[in-house]
Amino acid sequence: MSHCKICTSPTNDIITFGGMPVANGFINVVGQDEFVFDLTVSFCTHCFMVQLKETVPPEKMFNDHYHFMSSTSQGMAVHFEGNAKEIIDRLAGRPDSFVVELGCNDGPMLKHIAAKGIRHLGVEPSGNVADLAQKNNVRVLKEFFNQKTAAQIVQKDGQADVICGSNVFCHIEDIHSVFTGISVLLKEDGYVYFEDPYLMDIVEQSSFDQIYDEHVFYYSGLSVRELAKRHQLELVDMVHQDVHGGSMRYYLKKGAGYTVHPRVEEFIAREKSLKLDQPAGYASFKDHVNQICHQLRHTLEEIKHKGSRIVGYGATSKSTTLLNYAKIGPALVDYISDNTPYKINKFTPGMHIPIRSYETFLEDQPAYTLLLAWNHRREILEKEKEYRRKGGKFITFFPAVTIE
Ligand code: TYD
Repeated sequence: MSHCKICTSPTNDIITFGGMPVANGFINVVGQDEFVFDLTVSFCTHCFMVQLKETVPPEKMFNDHYHFMSSTSQGMAVHFEGNAKEIIDRLAGRPDSFVVELGCNDGPMLKHIAAKGIRHLGVEPSGNVADLAQKNNVRVLKEFFNQKTAAQIVQKDGQADVICGSNVFCHIEDIHSVFTGISVLLKEDGYVYFEDPYLMDIVEQSSFDQIYDEHVFYYSGLSVRELAKRHQLELVDMVHQDVHGGSMRYYLKKGAGYTVHPRVEEFIAREKSLKLDQPAGYASFKDHVNQICHQLRHTLEEIKHKGSRIVGYGATSKSTTLLNYAKIGPALVDYISDNTPYKINKFTPGMHIPIRSYETFLEDQPAYTLLLAWNHRREILEKEKEYRRKGGKFITFFPAVTIE
């Protein structure tokens, strides 16, 4: 029996993927030691949080060799610029305002705040990406964010008008320590926003590859409202984001004087209609996942059987779950093309598919390409018009296997 990381109530298992390597644990040499943990997701009927049952120590995931760079997608660059613009607009008329971003990565959002001369700070524990943020003129503190770090920031810079984080809050197991830090750092009339993959999208599309070591929590309006209340914060708005396969941005306020946007109730009502507040809402998830894996393996095997070649596109973190659970390795996928310099010539965790440069893909013109970075589908299909014009085909798999 496991217990909820938010409220300590007993939890119910939703799905078990078995032994899984760390999603960003790309290796240099096949045969190298790989850290493996049991990847299981569970649900708390008391506070509605969907969460990993077993977690990986943060230093195994976020270190100076962290491979995830925010700035590898043009679509995400545009998205982060939009986030910055929203903050800048909201801060109009508030002199000397201060913005803190948790997990600022290489600075795709804060660099726009910095360019406007707005006081800011990125809190980023991964040294290599923090260095890149500094090169983008972003002020960075290389630490994990908690009450202690929050107190240090307040002492040096004062309290924050905005505290934000994109694809960060879902990564932090001790999320209470983050919220305790927020209560120290946030001004009474300030606001918090964070965005992460949205549970309802994951359940509706069966997009199980969002489940991996770094994603400890799978947030919904139901669970965020409960979590916020525990820290004297109110969930005042929710805005759906068409990124990362469906994300939700949650806005939180403290103190008095806020109004709750009707969208919050509307989203929560939809979540309830899917029964995401009870185990029944997750009962068929495992079957859908197994169907997709079966269908995908079958499709890839048929293509190989007919003598065509398949490569992958985007050595994403999320593909670690898909490839390992569906048992897709180099016998089916020759290599994965990726535009992140750190990943080139390494091998994927667990299944050991080689990673090659984007130029390799362009020269190669393989018959079939498994779109592992499916969350950037629109951007990639637009970029690869020529590949498709010459007869190349993309294979996608959520909510069902499709060749296009
Ligand atoms: P990302 O979307 O961040 O997913 P995850 O969080 O699961 O890692 O990763 C996208 C990966 O795909 C990243 O390694 C960069 C790569 N990529 C390309 O190689 N070409 C592209 O055009 C895009 C958009 C991404």
